[in-house]
Amino acid sequence: MENTKIYFAPLEGITIYSYRNLHHKYFSGGISAYYTPFLAIHKHHAFKKRDIREILPQNNPGMEDLIIPQIMAGKAEDILWGVNELKDRGFKKINLNVGCPVATVVSKNKGSGMLKDVHELDNVLSDVFGSKTMDDVEFSVKTRIGIEDPEEFYKILPVYNKFPLSKLIIHPRVRKQMYQGKPHMDIFKWACENSKNKLCYNGDICSVEDYEKFRKDYPEVSEIMIGRGLIANPALAREINGGERLKSEEIKGFMEEMFENYHNEIPGDIQIMHKMKELWVYVGKNFVDKSGETADAYIHKICVSKSLPEYRNAVRTLYKECDIR
Ligand SMILES: Cc1cc2nc3c(=O)[nH]c(=O)nc-3n(C[C@H](O)[C@H](O)[C@H](O)COP(=O)(O)O)c2cc1C
Repeated sequence: MENTKIYFAPLEGITIYSYRNLHHKYFSGGISAYYTPFLAIHKHHAFKKRDIREILPQNNPGMEDLIIPQIMAGKAEDILWGVNELKDRGFKKINLNVGCPVATVVSKNKGSGMLKDVHELDNVLSDVFGSKTMDDVEFSVKTRIGIEDPEEFYKILPVYNKFPLSKLIIHPRVRKQMYQGKPHMDIFKWACENSKNKLCYNGDICSVEDYEKFRKDYPEVSEIMIGRGLIANPALAREINGGERLKSEEIKGFMEEMFENYHNEIPGDIQIMHKMKELWVYVGKNFVDKSGETADAYIHKICVSKSLPEYRNAVRTLYKECDIR
């Protein structure tokens, strides 16, 4: 069985550069690449300032080779503009978002909205791959399996099969599910048997056990992308690779430094707390109280704190009265 490659999934607003830098500093082992949250391409051909910050070399020190930018656009000319722009900035691997389920994105035929009409998807990819721009770039797609019905993928995969993707990352949910319900593993299995492109699996790998079960069921798939599982346990890739389990001092150091980073970047205590609370909802799942019960009540206290002193107090109480599972 080939060694597994683990990629950190893009999570808009969460896996931003300051998060990725810190993750690399504390938990570097085991991640083969970090995909950036999507860089939106506007019709006047520009990236947002906020998005450009994600890919600047000075914001990714020592990680330049680990960063794969993801773009979001629904039209071939916009995708090609993005590819060119990123190539000019030195990137050789680029990913296209065909999964975002958010209504405002889907309504513009971007993200998973590109799956609404397979003929149009085919046209867009034909125009993209017909361009010389693509000659020296590794272009991958991160896709859902449909809009409403998982069986839509029976028509979508043959379209992807026409093009030389560097890999096809499949999150086997339909748009309607958002991030709920179960991934459709029957469809993923069918994709394994029928894809002409190399596949990478994404979805609900949250523990070493989930990973081992996946590898046992799909020994031929050696690339996995993990999102929420890594946010909850930033040491998950290390653990999967047989390394040490997450330690409480590590997560404490990581969360404190993340707070400092946000403090330096974001004006306003409420906004900083909002970002930290977003992380705590995931990270809190690692903690148990003295009697071995979940730390939900402690995380709830953190999440309802209204001022920095209240927030700090709730975090201190968690560290004092709970430990890593
Ligand atoms: C808050 C949030 C933000 C996300 N942002 C992106 C994004 O920018 N680009 C993308 O391709 N997927 C995005 N996703 C989807 C994840 O990359 C991933 O496909 C999904 O969470 C399923 O994988 P997981 O179960 O390992 O988390 C996002 C998911 C969440 C929950």
